[in-house]
Amino acid sequence: MEKKILITGAAGFIGSHVARLFVNKYPSYHIYNLDKLTYAGNLANLRDIESKSNYTFIKGDIVDQTFIDKLFQEHKFDAVIHLAAESHVDRSITNPNEFVMTNVVGTVNLLNAAKKLWNSSTQNSELNTHNLFYHVSTDEVYGSLGDTGMFTEETSYDPHSPYSASKASSDHFVRAYHDTYKLPVVISNCSNNYGPYHFPEKLVPLVLNNIKNKKPLPVYGKGENVRDWLFVEDHAKAIDVIFHNAKHGSTYNIGGHNEWKNIDVVRLLCRTMDKKLGRAEGESEKLITFVTDRAGHDLRYAIDSTKLQKDLGWVPSVTFEQGIGLTVDWYLNNEEWINNVTSGEYKKYYEGMYEGR
Ligand code: NAD
Ligand code: TYD
Repeated sequence: MEKKILITGAAGFIGSHVARLFVNKYPSYHIYNLDKLTYAGNLANLRDIESKSNYTFIKGDIVDQTFIDKLFQEHKFDAVIHLAAESHVDRSITNPNEFVMTNVVGTVNLLNAAKKLWNSSTQNSELNTHNLFYHVSTDEVYGSLGDTGMFTEETSYDPHSPYSASKASSDHFVRAYHDTYKLPVVISNCSNNYGPYHFPEKLVPLVLNNIKNKKPLPVYGKGENVRDWLFVEDHAKAIDVIFHNAKHGSTYNIGGHNEWKNIDVVRLLCRTMDKKLGRAEGESEKLITFVTDRAGHDLRYAIDSTKLQKDLGWVPSVTFEQGIGLTVDWYLNNEEWINNVTSGEYKKYYEGMYEGR
């Protein structure tokens, strides 16, 4: 069946993997990538699909409601997969307003445009099953765990950072549009991703880049915080499965049962890089530098994805060691990409951010 699908934020890390999967796997779908190309959006992430006949890039800002309305009326999208967001917790601490604008206002603008195009309203008694607004969210909305327990789809929201507060707010709006206007929606909340095309401000690519350049590896606090890591292509596959099979109005948690303390992730990256670069064992670990902890740093995230595994049969395809191996190889073979994204404005920001640490 032919479908016109709008993917927002597909020039970013996860969005580029989702767009690549959909463009290649579903030739009868037309994929529209709407992206503002912020510091985190890079069309080089999509070079291998940019000339495909079922792919179109549109530069634009989801915060601009007039532009978004026109776009929906012009292209008459059947479905939306919404990933565009400000995504970095540290940036949300220094500039929360941008997170409110893109993550909250931008999401509501898209919901309004979809509601208008698909005739969803308070008068509707039934869900329209042809269309879908798929909202991609994070496990960080659930807050922080102690030493035990996992986030399920029933866990109450308890966000702590401006980033997670903005994502929680957008999730609530998506559910509100479902409950109030019968907008056909689905939400997934995923754990930390890693893999190719990850902007080197996040832990894994930042550490890989710094190991390569023999620069300090900043570990916040004591490195005891735990994250649940998932290879980005497995997230994209989960989004594909949920997009095609989930009941409208439902929520799915996505995660690989793969909890690691930050310090252990950094040590694994050091060992893997030392081997690949032919450096002496233990050489890169000497670069580890404990720095001031992040304000309001969530201690532990762990996702229970039983519902997704049982209902829709999704399971991660690679182990952490395999995924890290693939990721390290990709970063070592794509120096031009890294030099490109770590130069210019980003570099100025990056240097300012770690001054004095
Ligand atoms: P990213 O920062 O790499 O990419 C975000 C993209 O959105 C960029 O291409 C950027 O240019 C675009 N964008 C930002 N503001 C925009 C605006 N106003 N209008 C249009 N485009 C705009 O982010 P990511 O890591 O790929 O995350 C994608 C989504 O997945 C986000 O919604 C994030 O909350 C969610 N998520 C991320 C993770 C993770 O580990 N990275 C985990 C779970 C969920
Ligand atoms: P990050 O990649 O920013 O993702 P998130 O904050 O969304 O989980 O950070 C992952 C973990 O690594 C988090 O606990 C913060 C920590 N961290 C560091 O210790 N050093 C760093 O330089 C960065 C960027 C993160």
